[in-house]
Amino acid sequence: MRDFLKALPKAELHLHIEGTLEPELMMALAERNGVTLPYASVEEVRAAYDFDDLQSFLDLYFQGMSVLLTARDFEDLAMDYFQRAAAEGVVHVEMHVDPQAHLSRGVALEAVMEGLERARRRAEDELDLSTAMILAFLRDRPAEEAESLLEQAAPYLDRIDAVGLDSAEVGHPPSKFREAFRRAGELGLARVAHAGEEGPPAYIHEALDVLDVCRIDHGVRCLEDEALVARLRDEAMVLTVCPLSNLRLKVVERMEAHPLPAMLEAGLNLTLNSDDPAYFGGGMLENFLACQRAFGWSRETFARLAGNAIEAAFMSEARRAELR
Ligand code: HPA
Ligand code: ZN
Repeated sequence: MRDFLKALPKAELHLHIEGTLEPELMMALAERNGVTLPYASVEEVRAAYDFDDLQSFLDLYFQGMSVLLTARDFEDLAMDYFQRAAAEGVVHVEMHVDPQAHLSRGVALEAVMEGLERARRRAEDELDLSTAMILAFLRDRPAEEAESLLEQAAPYLDRIDAVGLDSAEVGHPPSKFREAFRRAGELGLARVAHAGEEGPPAYIHEALDVLDVCRIDHGVRCLEDEALVARLRDEAMVLTVCPLSNLRLKVVERMEAHPLPAMLEAGLNLTLNSDDPAYFGGGMLENFLACQRAFGWSRETFARLAGNAIEAAFMSEARRAELR
């Protein structure tokens, strides 16, 4: 089964590029850039990754990315990940990027965009890996900051496929970003949003009603609302579920208790994704394997889920045809 899951062409629709920063690269970049981290070794970094909830993860996620300063750092970050992903059968990666977390540290948007662009070109050339980019708004920052980021991103719009919404969910409902998402739509960008990870099902309704999203990132709390489940099913709304993330952030207590099988049973349009692979214990293949161990799914089920992601991906129809 491992060989089958590894060979299965997998598209990753929910990934934060800053969450691919492995401890080894974090330490190397800290050294290269003269950044001080509160860790003496790679082992200490890994030992710190014991999370209670989303916020306890976000604290270390934002701290870890403090080593990213130059375009070269962003290129190294993404290329390091693209190589690992390609080696486990990933053929397409859609990366969320959190520019506000870099701008607030004095890192220019140009450095972020140039570095990631170089890595994307290399991924295409060297790895036959296609990529897309989702410009994410930090929902615990003011809405005006998101609107300003979108303005600043004007020179890069041709490289951006969609806007997204991430970071601390509870207390920051989708409607807070009505204007930024409206403007993104006007600019021709697709819209996705994290909703129903820690936040209530009402946030999923809101993301659909107010932000006009074409995908819900996570969405695992939808089962608490029967009408919502029916709506998601009827609209064939894509949910980008991240099993190991949900386990490590204690959205679920054990993988066996994950709502995925019930969501599948409900006829939802599901995809499997890794979210922040350097922090949550593995990439796409590990997420597929974790589901295999916990739910005993058949090859057909995994092939269907992988197929859902190819159909929902931001990619050219020519590329989609190639991957079908
Ligand atoms: N949830 C919300 N925001 C995030 C996550 C996540 O899992 N990862 C990185 N930013
Ligand atoms: Zn996420």
